[in-house]
Formats: sequence, structure tokens, C-alpha cells
Amino acid sequence: MRNKINYCSILLVCCCIMSLSACSNSKNEFIQENIDFAVQQTQLMLKQTGEPTGKNYPRTMNDKGKLVTTSMYDWTPGFFPGSLWYLYELTGDKNWLEEAEKWTHSLEPLKTFTGHHDLGFMMYCSYGNALRLAPKPEYKDILIESAESLSTRFSENTQMIKSWNYRKAWNDTTEWFYPVIVDNMMNLEMLFAATKLSGNQKYYNIAVAHANTTLKNHIREDFGTYHVVDFDTITGATLDRATCQGFSDNSTWSRGQAWMMYGYTMMYRETQDPVYLETAVALTDFYMKHLPEDLVPLWDFNVGEPGYVPEGKSYAVQFQEKLKDASAAAIACSALFELDEYVPQKSYGELAIKMLESLATPKYRAELGTTTNFLLMHSVGSIPHKAEIDKPLVYADYYFLEALVRFKNRK
Ligand code: GLY
Repeated sequence: MRNKINYCSILLVCCCIMSLSACSNSKNEFIQENIDFAVQQTQLMLKQTGEPTGKNYPRTMNDKGKLVTTSMYDWTPGFFPGSLWYLYELTGDKNWLEEAEKWTHSLEPLKTFTGHHDLGFMMYCSYGNALRLAPKPEYKDILIESAESLSTRFSENTQMIKSWNYRKAWNDTTEWFYPVIVDNMMNLEMLFAATKLSGNQKYYNIAVAHANTTLKNHIREDFGTYHVVDFDTITGATLDRATCQGFSDNSTWSRGQAWMMYGYTMMYRETQDPVYLETAVALTDFYMKHLPEDLVPLWDFNVGEPGYVPEGKSYAVQFQEKLKDASAAAIACSALFELDEYVPQKSYGELAIKMLESLATPKYRAELGTTTNFLLMHSVGSIPHKAEIDKPLVYADYYFLEALVRFKNRK
């Protein structure tokens, strides 16, 4: 009898080991296949762009199937250098290091830029990864100076960093003098880095103040989010809650929700304040409730639903197709890998793996040599602006690669 039990236990242990090793083999194969694809596709992209000129940062593809690039002063120039850093991290190949450095260094003039709030995306996806993966002494000062430039947009009255300068809402009558958008949560990570690098607590305090004011004003009771909140520049009072890139003022724009999930997860990492963790979890649970079967969300969770009405000059007034946004999925997927580390009992990691697998299917991942050499298809830049509708986007690719790195490093 005893022999029989021992034999059974040994068999069981062997089966477990075999199935764990099969799991880890299939994980490794999945990761390697995606790395191989990203390497080849990005080599083609580099042939297309040539050397960085300050004006040729890949962004999307136009209706004629041609590559669209931007100048460094748009909000997205940091993502392509950031993707090159992730390829270096994923492969260890020094050619990627060289390319990543070249494209990152081309952005140095931005360290004094104060034209909008996106400096975190621009400088932290590029120089932040550079500092992490191949530090050079000058990176420290560049990041501190960038944080200083971003901080010039913070005001004591509002306790917020102003996202955009003056503009009108889609109804063409409401004016925004101090608009702050949910995306701005993503720019705070660079401020935490600047405090660690400089010892100056100011940047940390600005990040915390901004996150706390966002928590009070941009989140609804059900943990859906408003894209834009406008503030009185003197009293700090809330003047308008609206959308610029979502379907309607009262809807939840899925990429905005993903920025918030990522942003509050990062806030918890940097401060260990449990309020941020609770917020990240609640935002994530809202997002998950609205996911379709393939885990890639509609570009706005409420598109075309009764009670959600786009206004004025927004192209969403006439265009109400229920398109998906792969960029929102990639951002959320990367956020979930991190959130899983803080709340393992919620199984966010398992969900993140499924999201990544879905993005890597031919439904969303481009074929080699197509889609002007971006990695993912089917994102939405901004339907209200009639821009980048069902197109590849450089930031979808960046967060897809980041999620791949996080999956690879997952214990
Ligand atoms: N931060 C702008 C966007 O998500 O489109």
C-alpha cells in the first residue's frame, strides 16, 4: 500500500513539473515569436524613416497607406525611441542600443519645452528608459530639467498641471482656460524620477497634488472617467466636465480609462499610498466590466448608447461606428501586469496575458512588411477630430512591447 501511495505521489509531482514546463515553454515561444516579429518589422520601419531629423518620428498611417511622422513638438515623439529601448531590453542586441540612443538623443531640445503637458510621454518613454537600461551622466540633468519644464504648468490655485492651453469645447461656446485631461496622470512618473535624481521634493509633491485633484474631479461614482475637466484659474473651482477625444461629455473614453488605470498603479508604486491602489483597482474593474470577448475595447465604452450624445463640431456626431481601439488595450494590458504584482488575488496577470495574446493574433497584429511597419493595427487616435480612425498608432506599439517586457519578467 505504502509503495502504491509513493508511486502515485511521484507520478503526480512529475505531471505537475511537466505541465509547468510545458506552460513555460509555450510562454517563451509566444514571447520569442513576438520579439522576432517586432525586430523585423522595426528594422523595416527604420529603413523607412532614415536617421532622426527632429521631424520624422513615426506616428500612424494615412488613408493612402503612407507613413505619417511628426515633429518632436507633437505629443508622441518619445514612443518610437521608447520602443527601440524595449527591443534592446528584449534582445540584448547592441544594434538596438545604438538606434535607441540615437533617437533618444535627438529629443534633447525638448528639455526646455513648456507648450503642453505631454513632456512626460516625450522625455520619460525615451530618456527614462535610457537611464534605466544604459545610463549616461547627462541623462540625469536632462530628466531633471524636463521635470522642471513640466512643473511650470502647475499652479497652486488649481493644484494641477495644466494639460492644454486655452481652447474651446466641441459645442464651440464653452471656453476652457485651464483644461486638465486624464492622460496627464501618465506625465507624473517623470516627476517622481526627478525627485529621486535631484533630491528636490518639489516634483514629488506636484505629482501627488495633481493625482489627488484628479481623483476628486475626473472620476465618477461608478469609477468611469471624464476626459476633460476645466478649472477656474483663481479659485480652482471645477467649471466644466467634458470630453475632447471621447464620444460624449458623459461617456467613458476607453484610452482615457486605461491612462488612469496605469497612472494610479504607478502612483501606488511611487508612494505606497493605499488610496491609489484602491483607485487603480476600481478603475480597472470598471474597465473590465466593459470588455468584449476578445478583450480589446470599443474606442469609447458608450458609443451609440442611449443617453450619450456627442456635440457640436465633434465628428462623433455623424460617425458612430463601434470601432475597437487596440491602443487602449495595449496600455491597459501593460498596466495590469504591474497591478497584478500589488493585488495578486485579483488574477489581473492572467487577464493581461489573455489581452496580450489577443493583440498578438492576426486580427490585431500586422503582417510583416504591411501597415507601414507598425506592429499593431486597429487603433483610434481621435474620432471627434476625424483623425487616425482605425489606424496603427506608435503608442499602441510602445505599450504592446512594454507589456511583452513585463510578461517576460513576470515571475
Ligand atoms: N494623450 C492623447 C491621447 O491619448 O490621444
